[in-house]
Amino acid sequence: MSLSLKILTPISLYSTFFLLLPLIYTFSIQDLLQSQGLPAGLFPDNVISYKLDPDGRLEVHLDSPCMAKFDGRVYFDRVVSANLSYGGLVGLEGLSEEELFLWLPVKGIIVNDPSSGLILFDIGVAHKQLSISLFEDPPVCKPLEVLTEKVGRKKKRFQVQK
Ligand SMILES: *[C@@H]1O[C@H](CO)[C@@H](O)[C@H](O)[C@H]1NC(C)=O
Repeated sequence: MSLSLKILTPISLYSTFFLLLPLIYTFSIQDLLQSQGLPAGLFPDNVISYKLDPDGRLEVHLDSPCMAKFDGRVYFDRVVSANLSYGGLVGLEGLSEEELFLWLPVKGIIVNDPSSGLILFDIGVAHKQLSISLFEDPPVCKPLEVLTEKVGRKKKRFQVQK
């Protein structure tokens, strides 16, 4: 029995993965996150599409770079990528968080223990624990044109030609 398991397991895992692949692609990003034990609202409301490589590299495409709010302000690049595995996004690129007037890249988002109700943001210099309930729904994300208009001095430079 152990012999047949040794032979079958790699093959069946392999074929199961490729059978499931088309299904994974029809998932919304929210479904995908939840299937990996993560809250549905980690990515904002303007996600257009995402791509998941067989090695777990996730690339999320947004309508435009934008700012949203969880507990504090966060900034999403147009493309955000990370290694997705159960309970975590590591090697994150394209997400920054405002911390005491500094914008720090968020390097990972981890849920170690869903029953704790906590989610961990790895911002390099520190780990920050936040309530998972902040991430239940995708946040509204405002494109930068809207935000820079409020800055006044930079207004002209950033205004889109109409
Ligand atoms: C992400 O995945 C790639 C490819 O599997 C790997 O080379 C890289 O080290 C991973 N990064 C992290 C931070 O785990």
